[in-house]
Amino acid sequence: MPKRKHLVAPSVLSADFAHLYDDIAMVNQSEADWFHIDIMDGVFVPNISFGFPVLASIAHYAKKPLDVHLMIVDPDRYLEQFQAIGATNITVHAEACTHLNRTIQSIHELGCAAGVAINPGTPVSHLHEVVEDVDLILLMSVNPGFGGQNFIESTYRKIRELREMAAGRNDNLLIEVDGGVSNHNALALLKAGADVLVAGNAIFSDQNPAHAIAELKRVTPDLISV
Ligand code: DX5
Ligand code: ZN
Repeated sequence: MPKRKHLVAPSVLSADFAHLYDDIAMVNQSEADWFHIDIMDGVFVPNISFGFPVLASIAHYAKKPLDVHLMIVDPDRYLEQFQAIGATNITVHAEACTHLNRTIQSIHELGCAAGVAINPGTPVSHLHEVVEDVDLILLMSVNPGFGGQNFIESTYRKIRELREMAAGRNDNLLIEVDGGVSNHNALALLKAGADVLVAGNAIFSDQNPAHAIAELKRVTPDLISV
């Protein structure tokens, strides 16, 4: 069975905030599939990224789906606002939700795709009860909070475990990998079963970010593994 084509989601966190419009236009014109938007509250993670006014400006110019990754405590308080501002996917952290099933339902009721993220230290088994209910699962491959960190190798095993857990239960599940993703590990991640590659530093620190995106899109596990 041919593997479905993977998606590439540039992480805006690594964009040049003084020239944000230029970077949004670059992503619009590139082969990227989604804008990955990292929202950090300084409580769930030791960093603060940006809030609604900046996201509204991104949403105004972005011509591709907004993949919103909430690294915040008590995300239920803000789901409606993220939907209203234009989020396509809303991903919450399992570690930040007391009533994860209810939060997933709320995201779906708002008409958004629902994602659940887990930190590197959280086992895949924590997702057992929600794997049928979500559209995507985001595996953090660095400890969340900052761009430009080193990829954590145990992610490969977690992808395989999750793919196995989802088999027959949610065959449309998208497995997204976030943190330290680059051309060096993209092929191995896709071979392990990833569907969506988030990349910040690897794209925006490249001399030619649109080319870096194209390279990540070009990685083809099927052709190379035969
Ligand atoms: C980290 C964020 C990531 C980050 C990825 O907490 O969730 O999306 O921007 O950046 P890189 O690709 O530089 O590791
Ligand atoms: Zn992210």
